[in-house]
Amino acid sequence: MQIILKDVQKYYKVGKDKLHVLKNLNLEIESGEFIMIMGKSGSGKTTMLNLLGFLDKLDKGQYFFEGHDVSHLGENMRSEYRAKHVGFVFQQFNLIDTLNVFQNVEIPLIYAGVKDKNKRKELVEKRLFDVGLSEKALSYPNHLSGGQQQRVAIARALVNNPNLIFADEPTGALDSETGIEIMNLLKELNNKGTTVIMVTHDHDMTQYASRVITLKDGRFIKGD
Ligand SMILES: Nc1ncnc2c1ncn2[C@@H]1O[C@H](COP(=O)(O)OP(=O)(O)O)[C@@H](O)[C@H]1O
Ligand SMILES: [Mg+2]
Repeated sequence: MQIILKDVQKYYKVGKDKLHVLKNLNLEIESGEFIMIMGKSGSGKTTMLNLLGFLDKLDKGQYFFEGHDVSHLGENMRSEYRAKHVGFVFQQFNLIDTLNVFQNVEIPLIYAGVKDKNKRKELVEKRLFDVGLSEKALSYPNHLSGGQQQRVAIARALVNNPNLIFADEPTGALDSETGIEIMNLLKELNNKGTTVIMVTHDHDMTQYASRVITLKDGRFIKGD
């Protein structure tokens, strides 16, 4: 897994105006990294993650994913890339309240067209075990703590065995102790080989990163 961004730009249309959010981003990410993207609110962190994770399109520049130019994929191809290669974890967990834990984690497999029910069961159970929630398979999200809900979201992000996880402020809605648990879990996954790209504005989180990148005024201002 390798990612290269070359002179990437992104605009939003706001009424008649164009909001130039990302101005000339250049970045290379190698397999196995744990990247943290920092920057003030409104600096374009989520926008960048959405581009990298095939949720949105760039306006200028190039995006190479594993050597393929994916700068201008259409919606269908982007869905395919999302289903095959990446997992997402969000600040607000984004679980479906009417489905139980097992069913929430199973969703990406259904999207990816895994038809064999037993195969899906095996994969979901493996991931629930990995996040320590085997016992909660039949529970519903609103009966779980915030930390447990985020674990479910991580299991869901992992179930397709992606080589890349995008996490947008995954500890933002959690108390600090639970946040540390979630960070330890992400770090453990990273140690097993999953590349993690995480957005945060919490400096305490940077200790988990192999590299920190800061966005300001649509550009990176430092990397270490
Ligand atoms: N869909 C959108 N339409 C218009 N403006 C947007 C949209 N999404 C984000 N923005 C604007 O783009 C800028 C960057 O937003 P965002 O990427 O969410 O920043 P961050 O995640 O760093 O807080 C902000 O000024 C925000 O208001
Ligand atoms: Mg954001």
